[in-house]
Amino acid sequence: MVRSERVIFGLSGAVMALFLVGLLVLATGFGVDVPGCVTEMKPFEQDTLFQTGDRRWELHVVARMWAYQMPAVELPAGSELDIYLTSGDVVHGFHIDRTNVNLMAVPGAVTYARVRFSEPGEYPIVCHEYCGIGHQQMVGVIRIVQ
Ligand code: CUA
Repeated sequence: MVRSERVIFGLSGAVMALFLVGLLVLATGFGVDVPGCVTEMKPFEQDTLFQTGDRRWELHVVARMWAYQMPAVELPAGSELDIYLTSGDVVHGFHIDRTNVNLMAVPGAVTYARVRFSEPGEYPIVCHEYCGIGHQQMVGVIRIVQ
């Protein structure tokens, strides 16, 4: 192996190590994670929102062609929201704009994400899985107020 090959291999190894460290920092320090599939909860039929603690809420969402049953949710700033999602018919998506919540709504299964809303404002929800002719109108919103 010539010297230039050794240098290239060394640089490649250093860049790979840097990416690995970056991934580990993101996964542990910033809570970036793959959304979970909940196995201990049966799929539900109704959307519900209830308070589970001080500025802590739980939202159950049923996605159906072509709407979320509860299209608008209003919460105070600083709220932490546990979202459980299922589908009543086909596969849908559930992305909350300006957050890293990006779930699949799968019939017969429940998916889960937790998000904290520190800033007041409107956080639009969109279905990001093509689910039929009304897919583009399948939206919702989370309003965070002071
Ligand atoms: Cu529901 Cu696209």
